[in-house]
Amino acid sequence: MSGIAVKPIGYACGASIEGVDLSKPLSREDERAIRAAWVEHLVVVFPKQQVAPGQLVDFSRHFGELEDYASQPFNRHPENDEVMVITNKRTNGKPSPTFNAGQNWHTDLSYTIRPAKATTLFCIEKPSVGGDTMFANMYLAYETLSPKMQAFLDGLEGIHDASLIQGLEKRGPEIVAEYKRLNPPVIHPAVRRHPDSGRKALYVNERVRQFVGLSEAESKPLIRFLCDHAVLSRHVYRHYWSVGDLVMWDNRCLTHLAVGDYDPGESRHMIRTSGKGDHYGRLVEEAQGTQARPVLKGKEVAAAVDALRD
Ligand code: SIN
Repeated sequence: MSGIAVKPIGYACGASIEGVDLSKPLSREDERAIRAAWVEHLVVVFPKQQVAPGQLVDFSRHFGELEDYASQPFNRHPENDEVMVITNKRTNGKPSPTFNAGQNWHTDLSYTIRPAKATTLFCIEKPSVGGDTMFANMYLAYETLSPKMQAFLDGLEGIHDASLIQGLEKRGPEIVAEYKRLNPPVIHPAVRRHPDSGRKALYVNERVRQFVGLSEAESKPLIRFLCDHAVLSRHVYRHYWSVGDLVMWDNRCLTHLAVGDYDPGESRHMIRTSGKGDHYGRLVEEAQGTQARPVLKGKEVAAAVDALRD
């Protein structure tokens, strides 16, 4: 029997889990209990942990195959490709390529055809105030829409575009170019059914450029409405970090935001793993039946999507 204690810490989502040391091998019972808590609460917080990168990987592997971050090879841990360093500390004497990661509402790697399932994030250093992470429950976002809007969205697909990452351009022209080259826009359903819970979740966030079959002008206000609706305060849990928190969330039914409200002179230093989700999306170029251009830029994406209209 598992000795872990699960305590809800948010209305929309979020539970803390105590009674387990994640630097040690996980028992089957604890794994089962953690998985159940994760499916129920979507965000689980393990306070007062001390894990090295390899131990974070060992823990994360209990929840599936891990991403090697080949599509964003910019701040991987020097000893472990499955660990991304999310930090505002200088890296090799240069500004960190992840100094402003995650600062618009998103779900991890939704601009790839295999977007993330579980993400784990472990806090090593934090600013004295701020630097929180907010999570929005996308089941609630979907379930609180009118039945007509739900039916409309059930048939819709969105174009997820890495160039909509907030502040990407601040990471420098080489990183931006490589990011876009490695991550051409992809199409995902606007609503996904979660394989474990069976519930439908809205899968639209601030990195969606347009809906397939709708013009850009038609798409934009709908995307804005859905993003605003999704992050109403009653759908959101805000995590105030402590050093030693290990947080694991489910990208299939949440969006999240790294809040940039802290002194950039203070360190915020985290390590992250991402579990590979199901093959879900398809490339816009594939949908068009052409591989002619490896990278579509803003207006070209809109034109390519318009061309998909029937
Ligand atoms: C992320 O978007 O995965 C990072 C979130 C954070 O740094 O708070």
